[in-house]
Amino acid sequence: MLLEIKNLTKTYRAPDGGDAVEVLRSVDLSVAAGETIAITGPSGSGKSTVLNIVGALDRADAGEVLVDGRDVLQLGAAEVAAYRSTTVGFIFQLHHLLPQCTVLENVLVPTLAQRGGDRRALRERAESLLAAVGLEHRRGHRPGQLSGGERQRVAVARALINQPKLLLADEPTGALDRVNAGRLVDLLAELNRAQGVAVIMVTHAPELAGRMGRVVELVDGKLVEVRR
Ligand SMILES: Nc1ncnc2c1ncn2[C@@H]1O[C@H](COP(=O)(O)OP(=O)(O)OP(=O)(O)O)[C@@H](O)[C@H]1O
Ligand SMILES: [Mg+2]
Repeated sequence: MLLEIKNLTKTYRAPDGGDAVEVLRSVDLSVAAGETIAITGPSGSGKSTVLNIVGALDRADAGEVLVDGRDVLQLGAAEVAAYRSTTVGFIFQLHHLLPQCTVLENVLVPTLAQRGGDRRALRERAESLLAAVGLEHRRGHRPGQLSGGERQRVAVARALINQPKLLLADEPTGALDRVNAGRLVDLLAELNRAQGVAVIMVTHAPELAGRMGRVVELVDGKLVEVRR
């Protein structure tokens, strides 16, 4: 298994001494290499919390998050940084592109931390990813000169630049209209086929969830299989 989540729990303490929010009671999920999964569930059910913990952006209270057999929850600070930049790729609801950088420079941002990388090979990979998302002719543009759907496609290319095994997408279509949302999910499915990257996508839209290989729903702090 690429990813095994076992008995994950998470409670947010209230900042003002009020009631703590028990978000994840016991989350279990297994994801094989190259699978695509949609996570659905009501607002506030903890979907982003799960994704953020898997991506080592948030901490869990207990449980295990095994990626290739290693527990992400036990990694030290340096290992977390390496894990975040090379094993997982992230796409968020809003693209978080750097406005002052070109499209090509934005795609290369996650590679800047690597020392001794082959810059020319990385640039070629960035260009081929931009071609894969249909934006090779826009590489010199800045995010402000692109449409919302185009910006989100740049964010997809950026998430894949370090060849992660796992792509985590938290409502990547949340800011897009229906047509562009459908195109973005088609693109994720296509990149999954072409590059073998596993995809976990959070979405509210049943028709988008339906394009992933499996659908799970977060209910009462647990993940339940909806379709396999
Ligand atoms: N840093 C935090 N401190 C306290 N409570 C938090 C924090 N982050 C999230 N929560 C709470 O945890 C619960 C789950 O939040 P989460 O963002 O994971 O939900 P979600 O399923 O992604 O919702 P949505 O569909 O609206 O994005 C919510 O009740 C939220 O208010
Ligand atoms: Mg969320």
